[in-house]
Amino acid sequence: MSTSASKSSAIRDPHAHDGGFNAMPEGEFEGKKVYIETYGCQMNLADSELMGGILAEDGFDSADAFEEADVILINTCAVRESAEERVFGRLSQLLQYKHDDPDLVLGVTGCMAENLREKIVDQAPYVDLVVGPDAYRRLPELVKQCMRENADPVIDVKLDQDEVYEGFSPKRKDGVGGWVSIQRGCDKFCTFCIVPFTRGRERAVPPSDVMRQCRNLAERDYKKVTLLGQTVNSYYHDETDTSFARLLDQIADIDGIERIRFTSPYPVDFTPELIDTIARRDEVCNYVHLPVQSASNDVLERMRRGYTIEEYEDLVERMRAKIPDIALSTDIIVGFPGETEEDFRETVDLMERIRFDFAYMFKYSEREKTYAEREMEDDIPDEVKGERLTQIIELQEEISREVCESRIGTVEEVLVEGESKRDPDDLSGRTDDFKNTVFPKPDDDSVEAGDFVDIEVHDCTSHTLLGEVVSS
Ligand code: 5AD
Repeated sequence: MSTSASKSSAIRDPHAHDGGFNAMPEGEFEGKKVYIETYGCQMNLADSELMGGILAEDGFDSADAFEEADVILINTCAVRESAEERVFGRLSQLLQYKHDDPDLVLGVTGCMAENLREKIVDQAPYVDLVVGPDAYRRLPELVKQCMRENADPVIDVKLDQDEVYEGFSPKRKDGVGGWVSIQRGCDKFCTFCIVPFTRGRERAVPPSDVMRQCRNLAERDYKKVTLLGQTVNSYYHDETDTSFARLLDQIADIDGIERIRFTSPYPVDFTPELIDTIARRDEVCNYVHLPVQSASNDVLERMRRGYTIEEYEDLVERMRAKIPDIALSTDIIVGFPGETEEDFRETVDLMERIRFDFAYMFKYSEREKTYAEREMEDDIPDEVKGERLTQIIELQEEISREVCESRIGTVEEVLVEGESKRDPDDLSGRTDDFKNTVFPKPDDDSVEAGDFVDIEVHDCTSHTLLGEVVSS
């Protein structure tokens, strides 16, 4: 389905799936500039590109800086309280720009929009637009409405079980790696997690549309695709009987796509077929982000994760047996309601046993509407949460550094992504197992973004391999 239908001038149901209404004279908003600022996960980054694409179809341009924009959209995350606080802070900063330019449209999109529409209107009444994750196809019309009327905030946070944005093309700059969302929403209802409430139920993007997007990346010379979903490996498309493993195989067959990564898989849905596919297909990266959250069975049960720690470790063992050089990372939450010292110890012990390549670690943050918020007391003092977090961060730093140190002396194939952020004389890229790698630009400029080069590693930090080109 193409959004070009929305270019027609008939007034139609704005909630229709065929692109909504558009009664404005053509061209009135042509060239208006939109700046999108993104908070949160990779799915949000991908959604920002999607919004950019949807708006571009209606003639909107993108602004490189918010100072140049006619429309600023803050694409938000609700997964932890700290993310929300940051957004409210940012909104009050942007208020100043609205004072200077009363025509500026300031919008909040994404998970906070879905979850906090009343609070946003209450605490930030200068916000013009609040749009939830399932309402992006109506964005052009909603933005135009704000530009025309400049009255009460325009709000559209309707969740839509069928919305997968089939047929849309995200607006992205040229690059080496691109995201493709293959699934939206989540059905797991982990007791700490707000996502099912902000993004609705799980649904799969049809394989034909996933393939269209991946082919489009390959045609634009992208080398790598990262498949996104809240529980990406539970992907299953009913009508075509396509499992996640089968989808990976199809994408790996596309000429030009040399690396495929996916995030985040859910441990329970990690099938033997999927392990086989990762082992069998060179294109599928030897790297899996496998959120464990806790190593205490009591805590896992109260989180309703659906696995025991023995099952999780068994999965890791089976993966490592089939793919010995696989890199693993994880998510860990400390201070979940009722987490005892003993529970926490078990998490520390697991980290020492598994030795993840890296980990994202968080203090439990109570989220409205979740089962844990309704039924459990957030009883671990913030100080204790903080101590536990510091302890595991320090432990993981040490492990990550040791993992990187073990690579000194090896030669790694690196997909070059571009100039290093720290030093324009250096290039950076990733190994097949997702290790960031930095090396000096060869003098003859023979290496550029998108190339595969062999790098001999001679040093490292805790998260980066340092080396030099030995061939290209
Ligand atoms: N508090 C702390 N961390 C959370 N996460 C999700 N919800 C919460 C919460 N309420 C973490 C989990 C998840 C990651 C994306 O964010 O570890 O895997």
